[in-house]
Amino acid sequence: MNVNIHEDYQSMSKAAANLVARRIISRPDLVLGLPTGDTPKGFYRELIDFYEAGLLDFSKVTTFNLDEYYPLSRDNPISFTNYMYERFFNHVNVSQNKIHIPDGETDRVADECQDYEEMIAEEGGLDLTVLGIGENGHIGYNEPGSKLGSKTRLVELSEESIVREVPGNYDGIINKALTMGVKTIMNSRKLALLASGPRKANVIHDALEGPVTGDVPASILQLHPEVTVILDREAAGDLDGGELMV
Ligand code: PGA
Repeated sequence: MNVNIHEDYQSMSKAAANLVARRIISRPDLVLGLPTGDTPKGFYRELIDFYEAGLLDFSKVTTFNLDEYYPLSRDNPISFTNYMYERFFNHVNVSQNKIHIPDGETDRVADECQDYEEMIAEEGGLDLTVLGIGENGHIGYNEPGSKLGSKTRLVELSEESIVREVPGNYDGIINKALTMGVKTIMNSRKLALLASGPRKANVIHDALEGPVTGDVPASILQLHPEVTVILDREAAGDLDGGELMV
């Protein structure tokens, strides 16, 4: 694992955008896995800046989002679909037909999950997947207890995730999500894990320096050959190692 520690949230976000930009420039038809959440908001802003400056062209890039709440209309303001359009897709030139997000409206869950895996495979697999991390160690919505072999599927959200992440009005209404599995993520050729702020320090220590265990799904990333971890100082606060980037 390559662990890079940046001064603050902004420099962490820039580093994540630089990493993705380098990959797109060297491979314009990159197949890119994408996260939602608070952490990547700055990363998306930086990518938009690159696009607006004429430095990046997303027209051949294919994207697959990690997860979506279920059941939920894609037009609902709290959907990850809405997040992705508002924060990224409406501002860059990713082709509409190259955007993939699990369908939170489907009534054919098993087919949807299998189709999602097949669409990733048809694109030749994920080249690079950008990940956040939950305070309980989840990646995508692979909650503690997830198996290394898990693929895209419907999962129950943990109480912790519901309280921390599902917006207040939907607490108790939304308790499931469709998520890429741990195996789907581990099959990505490269991974970038982003974390920011003191609330993530403990789980970043456990995920990077603790034992590999399904109880901390992000710890499984220790077994992946090409992971870049991009942290700010606060998220790195409990680590023994890591390289400080200046
Ligand atoms: P956050 O979520 O960026 O909002 O902290 C991260 C995650 O749950 O993956």
